[in-house]
Amino acid sequence: MSLFITFEGGEGSGKSSALRLIDERLREEGYQTVLTREPGGTPIAEAIRNVILDKGNVAMDPRTEALLYAASRRQHLVEKVWPALKEGKIVLCDRYLDSSLAYQGGARGLGIDNILNVNSFATEGTFPDLTLLFDIEPELGLARIAKNANREVNRLDLEKIDFHRGVRKTFHEIAARYPERFVIIDASQPLEKVVEDSYKAIKARLK
Ligand code: TMP
Repeated sequence: MSLFITFEGGEGSGKSSALRLIDERLREEGYQTVLTREPGGTPIAEAIRNVILDKGNVAMDPRTEALLYAASRRQHLVEKVWPALKEGKIVLCDRYLDSSLAYQGGARGLGIDNILNVNSFATEGTFPDLTLLFDIEPELGLARIAKNANREVNRLDLEKIDFHRGVRKTFHEIAARYPERFVIIDASQPLEKVVEDSYKAIKARLK
């Protein structure tokens, strides 16, 4: 049974670490999974990622940024996500469309509906079956990043705290707009508990 699951949240929510553990657990149980991320996940999409996140690209216009995310998303869907879903796999994707709605639509102020329009062209209407929102206070998330030596700081991490508050607020608005596919996970909990809560939500969809 194919399932498209996305993991969303602000900076330092721990979603990428949780995602790896959830993937391992699903595989141990015999599920066929594809673990991937946005922006990126294929060579062309990773090249676009490098342009978007380059700390030197301070002149990037917000609409250019939104279009590049959508372009990277499209390429990733075509090369990786759609083929995997067609083969009946579970796709676990670190960020997707909702990140664009929260970051570009909300925090950058481009508007959720404008970003939905651009993305409906890019995705041809592909929404996730399940979206886990790793919810955390931005202050706590950013403090976690500062402590994590393995995590490279990118252009968006460098935004001011109000930007990250805007991201969180918009994620909550989107979750309220699509309650049938969103599950909010308290990401301030210890990693094991975050993984447990996420796993339960996923298993509920696999029944
Ligand atoms: P990452 O740190 O989770 O790999 O994500 C890279 C950054 O890109 C992160 O700051 C969130 C941001 N982002 C957007 O602003 N819009 C998007 O559509 C996506 C997928 C990510």
